[in-house]
Amino acid sequence: MHFFTYKNGELFAEDVPVRELINEFGTPLYIYSYGTLIRHIRAYEEAFCEVPHIICYAVKANSNLAILRIFAELGIGADIVSGGELFRAIKAGIKPHKIVFAGVGKTDEEIEYALKNKILMFNVESEAELYKINEKAKSLKKIAYVALRVNPDIDPKTHKYIATGLKSSKFGIPIEKALDYYKIAKSLKNIKVIGIHKHIGSQITETSAFVEALNKILSLYDRLSKEDLDIEYVDIGGGLGITYKDETPPHPKDLADSLIPLIKNKKGKLIIEPGRSIVGNAGILVTKVLYNKETDTKNFFIVDAGMNDLIRPTLYGSYHDIQPVVIRKRPKLVADVVGPICESGDFLAKDRELEKVSAGEYLAVMSAGAYGFAMSSNYNSRPRAAEVLVKGDKYALIRKRETYKDLIKNEIIPEELL
Ligand code: LLP
Repeated sequence: MHFFTYKNGELFAEDVPVRELINEFGTPLYIYSYGTLIRHIRAYEEAFCEVPHIICYAVKANSNLAILRIFAELGIGADIVSGGELFRAIKAGIKPHKIVFAGVGKTDEEIEYALKNKILMFNVESEAELYKINEKAKSLKKIAYVALRVNPDIDPKTHKYIATGLKSSKFGIPIEKALDYYKIAKSLKNIKVIGIHKHIGSQITETSAFVEALNKILSLYDRLSKEDLDIEYVDIGGGLGITYKDETPPHPKDLADSLIPLIKNKKGKLIIEPGRSIVGNAGILVTKVLYNKETDTKNFFIVDAGMNDLIRPTLYGSYHDIQPVVIRKRPKLVADVVGPICESGDFLAKDRELEKVSAGEYLAVMSAGAYGFAMSSNYNSRPRAAEVLVKGDKYALIRKRETYKDLIKNEIIPEELL
């Protein structure tokens, strides 16, 4: 559920007409709804209230500082995968003791940075990483708290690029090796094992994969207890899908109802790392129609947002609903919605039935709050979009539109070589 609705044929973000935001900030423009973010966090909090838990929001989905600050105010933790994300999370006020750090390629600097900031735990993805973290902790005279990320070999039935818990994937430790690695971890002096972690993929629309994966890691949990390896945190990752078109993903409550019975009697705390299901439907991308173009075979709406602003359609073939900002009830047309970038893969929608909007009108690309701006780039030297947060009838700019100067600010012409 979200707070982007039409009133008299005009799209509103909460109580603010999208047109007003366009007039003030221009396009392409990401617009987020505060009320929707809060609603989604509450849905998780209420769903899992029966068991001790921490929600560690997956920063990668949308890492804008203002969004992170909203979560910090609610006492939410963070799932991070880089030093940069740790920097953002801390800057936003998220408590380090609620931060978990995953990722297969943590660098020495990132490990040190996280140790110095006393994060809750590292979600370790390989044997070599265990040794590395131990060595770094030793040199800093610290104890590193870790969970092992276990790869349960489960097909989450999602796009192959975002399935992460299959045997063939680079993520985690094969479940059959996990016990051995836990024993190694236990033997390392500067490491304290406190958790078990898994994350099987993203945009998962059935609870069964979550249940299967949790069952697998809980049988490992039981074996670990027998070996005197007590686990304090069971981190089940993120991955709950959202409705982009006609998917019917479980509500956090459905997820909780199917998982809580499995963990209720276990000691320790549950960690959940939702990203998309918190921010996905809390954001839209608004774009201006620049040209209408007809060829013998196709109609095109050429808009001012491109694959550099929202790469999901071309990268994963993802569907994002597209609606005119002002509905005028006119004939519809089947068209591709394409950006200005010099790539045939630069599209936001293919063969989409849309009202025949004219140049100068605006379209809203829905469900763009997760992995939208966060995956944007400057390709074709396009300054990145501005981002705005709406709360009721108020709004604020939370990221300025980039300028041409921003594009080149880190570049150096080495006169001495030229
Ligand atoms: N935890 C870990 C360790 C993860 O790798 C991820 C996402 C999450 C949590 C959050 O998953 P979520 O609740 O958002 O599904 N760029 C892709 C999605 C990549 C997801 C990567 N990992 C997309 O646009 O669909």
